Amino acid sequence: MAQATVSLKPADEAPVIDKNIYGHFAEHLGRCIYDGLYVGEKSNIPNTEGVRNDIINALKELKIPNLRWPGGCFADTYHWKDGVGPQSERPTIVNTWWGNVTEDNSFGTHNFLNLCEELGAEPYLAGNVGSGEVQELADWVQYVNFDGISPMSDWRKENGRDKPWGVKYWGVGNEAWGCGGNMRVEYYADIYRKYATFMSDAGLEGGLYKIASGASNDDYHWTEVLMRDIPHNLLQGVALHHYSVIDWNAKGPSIGFSEEQYFKTMEQAWLMEELVTKHVEIMDKYDPKGKVDLIVDEWGGWYDVMEDTNPGFLFQQNTMRDAMIAGMTLNIFHNHARRVKMANLAQVVNVLQAVILTEGEKMILTPTYHVMKMYNVHQDAQLIPIELDTPDYEFNGEKLPAVNASASKDAEGKVHISLVNIDSKKSNTVSVDVSALKLKDFTAEILSSKTLEDHNTFESPEKIQLEKFKKFKLKKGTLEVELPPFSVVVLEGN
Ligand code: AHR
Repeated sequence: MAQATVSLKPADEAPVIDKNIYGHFAEHLGRCIYDGLYVGEKSNIPNTEGVRNDIINALKELKIPNLRWPGGCFADTYHWKDGVGPQSERPTIVNTWWGNVTEDNSFGTHNFLNLCEELGAEPYLAGNVGSGEVQELADWVQYVNFDGISPMSDWRKENGRDKPWGVKYWGVGNEAWGCGGNMRVEYYADIYRKYATFMSDAGLEGGLYKIASGASNDDYHWTEVLMRDIPHNLLQGVALHHYSVIDWNAKGPSIGFSEEQYFKTMEQAWLMEELVTKHVEIMDKYDPKGKVDLIVDEWGGWYDVMEDTNPGFLFQQNTMRDAMIAGMTLNIFHNHARRVKMANLAQVVNVLQAVILTEGEKMILTPTYHVMKMYNVHQDAQLIPIELDTPDYEFNGEKLPAVNASASKDAEGKVHISLVNIDSKKSNTVSVDVSALKLKDFTAEILSSKTLEDHNTFESPEKIQLEKFKKFKLKKGTLEVELPPFSVVVLEGN
């Protein structure tokens, strides 16, 4: 058993962990919206305005703070006006990015924004820049936000919604370097300036929060140009996308993977630490006061689709490997809470690293769901900076830090410490120095399992779930915690 040490170093000036770091993403992709979240009002599956009640309840339980929609790549093909008004009169749309399926536009702006209201989550709308028009996006803002008389707000009222929803978060395109238009960043920066200029806040108190389509992985030049060339009064957030993918041409299976594939996935997940650090360094150079936020609005594991499923639908299983990605990535975001103010796991239901999978009437919660639930105690709590020393997880002569961690103090004074051991075979004892805080009583929960590829299935939906954890002792201001291989633990101290 190896030994790691974590020291908690509370600091008055430490940032708050924005609850929006726990955001999710719902794209028109595969079975995320249709035959996922949305089954339609006539379905036998209990629903609210067509959205499954079991999913609504599970997401409320998760305390989902925001939801990004309608894409992803789909966003830059989506024309919002086709998704409002009487459903029978809506034109169809071919989902060219994801399987060329024809959608009937029955799930549109009203459905999405009403769902967010029901969930108590902030909507985050991704605007169409790639194939849309400035006026189209400006009209969308007026439609959803304007309280007075105007062509768009009158139309909204005709369509059954009197009061505006008040949408604050707006993405100005998505992956402008790729599916959003294959633009150069110098060109996109100018396009962004134009769109942002005409996206009036339509009377929304506090104004719109506009997010520029950001870099892929280590494209630091992209962030540099956005920060340099866009006036900061037009820019509230800069995005970043990073997926834990082994190799885009050989992603490997989501179950039945080898230890080598596991190690490589962990390597990719851990890369988030370096990516965030370096993008933030650039942002600090152009914005030392920290006015513009880093928004990691797509992250998660990406593997080959499950056998016999549509390759364009990105349906994959979710195992303990994904739990490791989630626990580690959220710890990274917490520790960078000064600049990372929002993040969106890709995606919420039935796509990529989903927290929920459905099959007909059945629904299961994945290991990733359980990690996010266990971790949500950190939402809006003050970060407690840590110092960490960890043994390595070694595989085939390569090394990664075995243990990662983060800590915070909530409004009631409760302290939460999240610990992850990614080592596939070794337990790790972690000594957590909590002497700087006067804590007496601790309780804890754990997510662990026998094998790395364990997962919940429709036949065995509760194989992996949170359990009470007792393998720790408090002695003279130090907690000795025994972390099993590939496990996630959250301790609560009073
Ligand atoms: O999440 C799936 C896809 O990944 C999104 O549509 C796109 O933005 C990214 O490339």
